[in-house]
Amino acid sequence: MAEHWGAAIVTSRGKVHDVSALPSMLAVDPQSGSWLGVASYVIAGGECELVLLEAFRRFGGVGTALLASVVAEARRLSCTRLWLVTTNDNLHALRFYQRRGMCLVRVWPDATTRAREKLKPQIPLTGEHGIPIRDELELELQLGRGDA
Ligand SMILES: CC(C)(COP(=O)(O)OP(=O)(O)OC[C@H]1O[C@@H](n2cnc3c(N)ncnc32)[C@H](O)[C@@H]1OP(=O)(O)O)[C@@H](O)C(=O)NCCC(=O)NCCS
Repeated sequence: MAEHWGAAIVTSRGKVHDVSALPSMLAVDPQSGSWLGVASYVIAGGECELVLLEAFRRFGGVGTALLASVVAEARRLSCTRLWLVTTNDNLHALRFYQRRGMCLVRVWPDATTRAREKLKPQIPLTGEHGIPIRDELELELQLGRGDA
């Protein structure tokens, strides 16, 4: 994690998560044993927050498989919903999650600006497509409603 992100810290909703201390699902290449991706989550209050989802080799189904694994685990633990925040620049993530049944339920204006100021100065000012990174977008999947 230090290799990929410098520090294994993720911020969401005004909190700092030390990803190295969270339960995680790993996608592993069965031939080489190398990591293909990781999903880290927090179970609290009967809900599952997906704190981190990253595919180290993209567009090969790793992200989809990891998300499905976390959804299955959240269901196993009787969570009522799975949720996450992503930043306002992450158009690919917005597409990815909505295509997999998740709904955009809240916008937290300037939440990332505050996280950069108070919690994680390493958050860049500008993100994908040159979009200024400011807001957290909250997506959720209600569990137990027959979603895929
Ligand atoms: C979001 C992420 C986890 C998806 O993982 P992935 O393994 O690439 O995802 P999959 O291979 O399962 O699915 C990729 C989707 O992108 C599409 N895709 C394929 N090639 C693509 C390309 N060149 N550009 C954009 N999308 C492409 C695939 O068709 C698939 O879409 P669909 O099945 O909805 O039609 C990955 O992009 C990632 O690690 N992003 C950086 C970290 C991040 O933003 N995490 C989420 C924020 S919380």
